[in-house]
Amino acid sequence: MKIKLLHFKNARKSIRFSFFSAFIFSFVFGCLSFIGVNYGAFLLVNEYQEGQYLFNLAPVTFVITFIFSFYSLTRRIIKYIVDLADGLQTIAEGNLHYRVPVIRKDELGRVATNINLMTEQLQQQIEKERKLESSKMELITGVSHDLRTPLTSIIGYLELLKSESFQNKDEYKRFLQNTYNKALHLKKLINHLFEYTRLISADIQLELKQIDVQQLLEQMLFEFEPLAQENGIHVIRKTGHSPVMAFLDSGKIARAIDNLLMNALNYSIKPGKIEVLLRSDQDRIYIDIENKSHPITKEQEEKIFDRFYKVDDSRNNDGIQKGSGLGLAISRNIINLHGGTLTLTHENGIFIFTIAINKG
Ligand SMILES: Nc1ncnc2c1ncn2[C@@H]1O[C@H](COP(=O)(O)OP(=O)(O)O)[C@@H](O)[C@H]1O
Ligand SMILES: [Mg+2]
Repeated sequence: MKIKLLHFKNARKSIRFSFFSAFIFSFVFGCLSFIGVNYGAFLLVNEYQEGQYLFNLAPVTFVITFIFSFYSLTRRIIKYIVDLADGLQTIAEGNLHYRVPVIRKDELGRVATNINLMTEQLQQQIEKERKLESSKMELITGVSHDLRTPLTSIIGYLELLKSESFQNKDEYKRFLQNTYNKALHLKKLINHLFEYTRLISADIQLELKQIDVQQLLEQMLFEFEPLAQENGIHVIRKTGHSPVMAFLDSGKIARAIDNLLMNALNYSIKPGKIEVLLRSDQDRIYIDIENKSHPITKEQEEKIFDRFYKVDDSRNNDGIQKGSGLGLAISRNIINLHGGTLTLTHENGIFIFTIAINKG
């Protein structure tokens, strides 16, 4: 019974039902007018059978009433269809802010809802493309600026070397070494840039595999430790002993971790220590990389993950590696692609970068 009622209720929301009831009502009105005219004629026709022609009016009245009723009863539906068509045309002409009115609960109402949904999605897509485009332009501007600086130095040194403007062999060697360092920096910038643009491109694919994060971290720290020790940094491992399995792109995750380790090494106060902690709960894995450096302000903290952002170029850059300002942006992108987060907790020069990533 309930189902039948529901059926009926749903049927009432159907356009077929509207037309069918309009037809039935029009037919009933037609019949009533037919009967009415016949009855009138019956009263009017006198005993001499004059006025017989009045009976002929009945079918004509039926047809006229039927047409008029049907037209009146379906007028709102037709008007709504016309409104939808106009709305669609407005949208098709490029006004993506326009929304068609949703005033019916039948198929036409659904059409209207879907038109609005489609327009919304189109608008979002275009907005996204616009943002991507302006972010690309920003990137190009940033890149041109950052590439020009080392390149200008290289040209400057090469001019000095070409015109033999050095005083002795030592100076010559220094110029040459500086040119070489700048060229290396330029290469690194270009590599970082290439990596970054690949990461933000829409068709980036992750090669996800089941990996043991504990083992990956151990392996990385094994390679990192000698470099750290050379620079007066003691590495404290708190990675545990049991496997921590997760479904990740190991190459990319290693890249993200490596960036963080190299930052910790580059910007630590030396001698000092770097602590690496691996923790996990039911669903997530956390990697904390902690080091001590010079304190930064809240504004600097907020910008630290921005591309090309370097806290202070002259600051504690002990010359192990000069930055591109892209390292943290690359790491964060990689972690975000895995659906995780990379965050910084900073207090009084203690930097803790935390990777939080899902296991599955
Ligand atoms: N572990 C850290 N300790 C202190 N400062 C850091 C650390 N990591 C990053 N920073 C600061 O954040 C800035 C941005 O880092 P990053 O995006 O890796 O660029 P880059 O290292 O190429 O300069 C660095 O210039 C540095 O000043
Ligand atoms: Mg870096």
